[in-house]
Amino acid sequence: MAIDIAVFLSEAIRRPTQIAAIAPSSARTARLITRGLENTRGPVVEIGPGTGVFTRAILARGVDPSRLTLLEMNPLFCEHLREKFPGVTVLNRTAQDIADIGLSDISAVVSGVPLLARPQLQRAIVVPALKVMARDGVMTQLAYSRKSPLSETMQAELGVTSRHRGTVWANLPPARIFEYTRHQQ
Ligand SMILES: C[S@@+](CC[C@H](N)C(=O)[O-])C[C@H]1O[C@@H](n2cnc3c(N)ncnc32)[C@H](O)[C@@H]1O
Repeated sequence: MAIDIAVFLSEAIRRPTQIAAIAPSSARTARLITRGLENTRGPVVEIGPGTGVFTRAILARGVDPSRLTLLEMNPLFCEHLREKFPGVTVLNRTAQDIADIGLSDISAVVSGVPLLARPQLQRAIVVPALKVMARDGVMTQLAYSRKSPLSETMQAELGVTSRHRGTVWANLPPARIFEYTRHQQ
């Protein structure tokens, strides 16, 4: 845990725009963002796992490691994730590649990628994610703002409904979790 914080901090200083956070998320945030995964059966993809706080919580929900794929652009984080989570597929690729990794009917996408701090990533990630998500799939997103990281215009354009799942005040900084699902027809 202390090692995780040290690795996270040193990378956050070296690559502030990619990490866009001052500490790994808390265990409570991890429990909130992974809620419901115990009821899924298909592939689960985590994007921007960092040092793996959400990864641990995903596995604790009963997701078998063979169902879980991580997309992390930071090579040092990838090394740590491979050591910590044997059996989980760790890809040193960007979340924008989610439609190119051979998965379909994805039950859930869990995202720690800073979509609000880097708005150009919204379309670049959510459009390909929707292509490979199951019809009833859900994307959950970490944010440090009251505002949904996916703009209302983008939600309307992509046919996505946004819901604020909850806020964890004891996170540093306070964390909000949003969930995105397709409009029901
Ligand atoms: C705010 S940190 C969150 C880390 C972890 N999920 C947590 O909550 O503690 C953002 C993470 O997203 C990664 N990241 C940023 N942009 C990315 C992208 N386009 N594709 C994949 N990973 C990305 C960063 O390297 C970093 O690990």
